[in-house]
Amino acid sequence: MKFLQHFKIQILKWSKMINKLNEFMKEKIEKINCHNLIKEAMIYTLISEGKLLRPQMFLYSIEEKSRNKYFDIAMALECVHTYSLIHDDLPSMDNDNFRRGKETCHIKFGEDIAILTGDALLTLSFDLIANSNLSDEKKIEIVKILSKKSGADQGMINGQVLDIKANDNISINLLDNIYIQKTSKLIEASLVIANVITENNDETILIILSKEIGLLYQIKDDYLDLYGEFEETGKIIGSDLINNKKTYTNFYKQNELEKIIIKKQNEVNKKINKLNNSEELKEILMSLYNRRK
Ligand code: IPE
Ligand code: IPE
Ligand code: MG
Ligand code: MG
Ligand code: MG
Repeated sequence: MKFLQHFKIQILKWSKMINKLNEFMKEKIEKINCHNLIKEAMIYTLISEGKLLRPQMFLYSIEEKSRNKYFDIAMALECVHTYSLIHDDLPSMDNDNFRRGKETCHIKFGEDIAILTGDALLTLSFDLIANSNLSDEKKIEIVKILSKKSGADQGMINGQVLDIKANDNISINLLDNIYIQKTSKLIEASLVIANVITENNDETILIILSKEIGLLYQIKDDYLDLYGEFEETGKIIGSDLINNKKTYTNFYKQNELEKIIIKKQNEVNKKINKLNNSEELKEILMSLYNRRK
């Protein structure tokens, strides 16, 4: 009973912060002096039903009373993530027509505007960091981390390239390596950038932990792609199958995959206890296996 009550209060607190961050992001975009179409597309993609996992991981790594000061950095993380999804959905990539429960950017606004919306969000993220209230030293450090982790040098872009160019003979090891680059690296950026601000943890622990969180997160993404519900994921079920993409679902049956996801979560949980962070962060990280969306 006590646990349930705690859980309810927690959910309320989480949704309050998500609402505040969404308002912050909308205000920022509305102030941009640009063509209406790209403004509309940026708001359409950024302020939608995304889970805001990366900004949440970042903000919950910071003590509660200081979180408001770092919304621009949280937004920068979500801008990079959303840009990656807009491009990931393009016909030349995963060719997906639905995202976050509604039409993907290129379906709604056309491919040209979708490409440019992704570009605009990526460049905006560095604008947000450069104009934040942090010291110049910290800004530079954050730019270095975000550009490296989201870029080609063993970062998200390279993960996406390997993902697209993988052939049918792909091994589980290569698949893990792709997931670490395309998914873990941005998660790593969220935790390590927070650590630039708080200096709470040994960076090595965060890097090892992020690797495992990303793997768990992407394996669950593969699982939901085949066994999830459109009403919950907001994405077309079976997209990977349609694209003939080899994922964890090709290597394991549904029940085996469920066991792997729980095992990976347990490994993550063991490492979380070593963190000097809020209980809120730990709760989010400990419930990843359970997500339905
Ligand atoms: C989807 O990310 C792509 C992956 C890296 C697995 P999310 O599942 O975090 O998507 P949103 O932001 O909630 O839409
Ligand atoms: C995308 O992985 C990861 C990114 C870096 C964008 P997926 O292609 O599996 O993500 P979804 O399933 O489209 O959200
Ligand atoms: Mg993809
Ligand atoms: Mg995709
Ligand atoms: Mg997927």
